[in-house]
Amino acid sequence: MTQTPIKFITFEGGEGSGKSTQIALLKEYLIGCGQTVVQTREPGGTPLAEKLRTVLLEGVDGDFDPLSEHLIISAARRSHCCDLIQPTLARGDWVLSDRYIDSSWVYQTFVQGLSSETMDYLNDTVVGDLIPTLTFLLDCSPMISKTRMQGRQQFMDRYDSKPMDFHEKVRQGFLKRAENTAAQGNHRFVVIDGSQSIDVIAKVVQGHIQKIWEI
Ligand code: TYD
Repeated sequence: MTQTPIKFITFEGGEGSGKSTQIALLKEYLIGCGQTVVQTREPGGTPLAEKLRTVLLEGVDGDFDPLSEHLIISAARRSHCCDLIQPTLARGDWVLSDRYIDSSWVYQTFVQGLSSETMDYLNDTVVGDLIPTLTFLLDCSPMISKTRMQGRQQFMDRYDSKPMDFHEKVRQGFLKRAENTAAQGNHRFVVIDGSQSIDVIAKVVQGHIQKIWEI
């Protein structure tokens, strides 16, 4: 008997790639199909992880190195997996997460240089077999993201605080991650041209969901 794939979907991509819009649309679609959906995000998703998110995003006096950063992210992720993702999937409900393990590989390893071995070891230890069935990568040029984000001042401040080549490196990192994952025999990544219209992207996402779950 074949097992039903876990209803765990992640969205990845750089800032301003449209993840939150697409997650909201997929949630609406699934609810319309009579499904129960938990929408979540990383870092975050549980009271502990949300506290750690504040430390990570707002910072503390003095910087932290990529390993310290990843250890905090890992603690947040462990809580997220044990206290939210696992119990939700066990009830047979959907989990839609804005970012997950692939963001760590991109930001802490590909961009900041934390070794792949350390990353793989920590990720494996923390998430075990909680690997998403589908990961939608919204691939978008940093210039397009920036134009989209103009007007959202709080995001622009953060966006502008990093140079354009940082955003370009993040983009390349996600593409590399998708490629490496496929090369290892896992075809969970769906790379979508994020410069397309919201409706076109939403239809692509729904098409992939329908193919696997027939809803
Ligand atoms: P967030 O406001 O959620 O950004 P976005 O709206 O673009 O998703 O901030 C999350 C930030 O945390 C983002 O800059 C990426 C970073 N991050 C990591 O560096 N490593 C990780 O493992 C995760 C999950 C996020």
